[in-house]
Amino acid sequence: MAFDYTDRTVFVAGGTSGINLGVAQAFARAGARVSVLSRRQEKVDAAVASLRELGAEAAGFVADVRDYPAVEQALKDAHERFGAFDVLVSGAAGNFPAKATGMSANAFKSVVEIDLLGTYHVLRAAHPLMRKPGGAMINISAPQAFLPMNMQMHVCSAKAGVDMVTRVGALEWGGDGLRVNSVVPGPIADTEGMDRLAPTEDARRAVMDSVPLKRYGHSSEIADCCLWLGSAMAAYVTGAVIPVDGGWSLGGASTLGAGFERFAQS
Ligand code: COA
Ligand code: NAP
Repeated sequence: MAFDYTDRTVFVAGGTSGINLGVAQAFARAGARVSVLSRRQEKVDAAVASLRELGAEAAGFVADVRDYPAVEQALKDAHERFGAFDVLVSGAAGNFPAKATGMSANAFKSVVEIDLLGTYHVLRAAHPLMRKPGGAMINISAPQAFLPMNMQMHVCSAKAGVDMVTRVGALEWGGDGLRVNSVVPGPIADTEGMDRLAPTEDARRAVMDSVPLKRYGHSSEIADCCLWLGSAMAAYVTGAVIPVDGGWSLGGASTLGAGFERFAQS
């Protein structure tokens, strides 16, 4: 299915590597004007160059999603340049495997502040700048949001909150003509997230075996779901938390979390 995002404006927070960059590139290929934001200038520059190579008008912003004024300024600048956002994707996140007692209070706080507070910041600051009616907000969540996993208390807590931002946002902003949904990736190949959780070949194989479809997913498969959610084909979909995970989360908490604990380096 080819989606046409010509003359549409898309903003991807955390869109400079991995899954989120794949999402930004998919919107660029579909004709959108795309902005990305993350902390590191070199990653922002490389992401913008890749979007322009695909023929898109693109802009990049350096900001930490924990810093509300910086996020708000970046969104305002992108809005001034490209107009109201048709699609906003919030995907900045941090993760490392650690037991609850094996991390400091600051480590827990860092992940909650990036994933949950950062998502709130991005959506809160974007709300006045979205196309209304018709805009779509998409949060990139994780199976940890609804499955407790060993060594993931910080991420489970943060991503559960992210999905509540999705659901309450859908309730409060439906009347403004905005839709808010979560996409839940399963284990995605060649990503920082899976490199951290499954750092060895044995670990990668164990994760793959636990996926009903018996393979890793690709960033393009997460992007396909985002392209659909941002389109008129999903016009009646809001407040949904959609796994794109090869059925991985059906395996339940013990399968997933036990694997991470067994294979974690730390
Ligand atoms: N185990 C336990 N604690 C860890 C840790 C690990 N593997 N990695 C980092 N921490 C702790 C740090 O020691 C620090 O705590 P302290 O101040 O008490 O020592 C705290 O986490 C914050 O680390 P810091 O590096 O100062 O924070 P940051 O804001 O620069 O980075 C992280 C945030 C830790 C999440 C970092 O891993 C990151 O930037 N991740 C982004 C990329 C990523 O995780 N991608 C996968 C997405 S799913
Ligand atoms: P990634 O490549 O590390 O992507 C994270 C992105 O967020 C980067 O662009 C990073 O760039 C940015 N970022 C991190 N902290 C930030 C901050 N404080 N402020 C602004 N930007 C920040 O990771 P990934 O594995 O592709 O994961 C992407 C998303 O998918 C995450 O939301 C993750 O939870 C979710 N997910 C991933 C998997 C998987 O298999 N990988 C599975 C389930 C869910 P900078 O470093 O420049 O800031």
